[in-house]
Amino acid sequence: MTHPRISKIVILTGAGISAESGVATFRDQDGIWAKYDYRDVATPDGFARDPQLVLDFYNMRRRKHGDVQPNAAHLALARLEAEHPANVVIVTQNVDALHEAAGSKALIHMHGEILKRKCGNCGLQEQWSNDITRQSVCPNCKQAGTLRPDVVWFGEMPYHMETIAEHLQSADLFLSIGTSGHVYPAAGFVAEAGLHGAKTVELNLEPSEGTSLFDETIHGYAGEIVPAYVARLLAEASDR
Ligand code: APR
Repeated sequence: MTHPRISKIVILTGAGISAESGVATFRDQDGIWAKYDYRDVATPDGFARDPQLVLDFYNMRRRKHGDVQPNAAHLALARLEAEHPANVVIVTQNVDALHEAAGSKALIHMHGEILKRKCGNCGLQEQWSNDITRQSVCPNCKQAGTLRPDVVWFGEMPYHMETIAEHLQSADLFLSIGTSGHVYPAAGFVAEAGLHGAKTVELNLEPSEGTSLFDETIHGYAGEIVPAYVARLLAEASDR
C-alpha cells in the first residue's frame, strides 16, 4: 500500500508526555493547578504581589527536575527525528529538559525552560539549575532582586511564535501529544496545521478539548502509544 510522502512533521507536546517520567501535569486530578492557584505562581501580577512565593514554586520544580529521566515517548520522538526522512520539529509547552535529554535536536520551548533564568532589568537569559532568590544578583547588570525563571506566564507572549507559525504552515503531519488543549495559542495549532493541509493526529491519555479537530485520535499512555506510532511512521517511510 503506498503512503503519502511526508517531508515535514511538526509535533506539539504537553505535560502528558512527561507524566510517566514523574513530572506532574497541570490539570489532571492530582495536577499542579489542584495544589496552587495559577494566578499566584504563574502570572506577572502574582510575581509582583509575592515574588518569593513564585521563586520558591519554581525552585521546588527545578530541584525536582534533577531526579527525572526521559521516558519511552521522549526517546521515540528522538528516534523519529534521527531515522525518518522527514524534517521533524518538536514544539513543546513543557519547561522540562526531557526532550533534550532524550536526544531531540529540533526543539522549540514556547513556554520557556525551568533550567533557565532571566533578568527583568537587563533582559539577560542564561542556563540556570540552582535556586533563584530575591537576593540573587544579575551577573550582567549587577542588580539584585531582578532575576526570575525564564518561563512564560499566563498573560505573557509565548516564545518563537513566528517560527512556529512557519512550521505549522509547512507541515504534512501534525502530532499533538500529552496536552489537554486548554491553553492558547498551542490549542489552536491543530486548526492552523489542518488549514494548510497537514494530517492531524492526537495522541493523549484521554480526548482533549480539541479532540474533534483531529483527523485521527489515539488514546493511551504516551510511553506506549508514542513508540508504537513512531514505529508505524518509520515502517511506512521504508515502504515508499
Ligand atoms: N500519557 C499521555 N497523556 C497523558 C498522560 C500520559 N501518561 N498523563 C496525562 N496525560 C494527558 C492528560 O489527559 C491531559 O490531557 O496530558 C494532558 C495534560 O494536560 P495539562 O495538565 O493541561 O497540561 P498541558 O496541556 O501541557 O498544559 C498546557 O498550561 O498551565 C499551563 O503553561 C502550562 O504548558 C502548560 C499549559
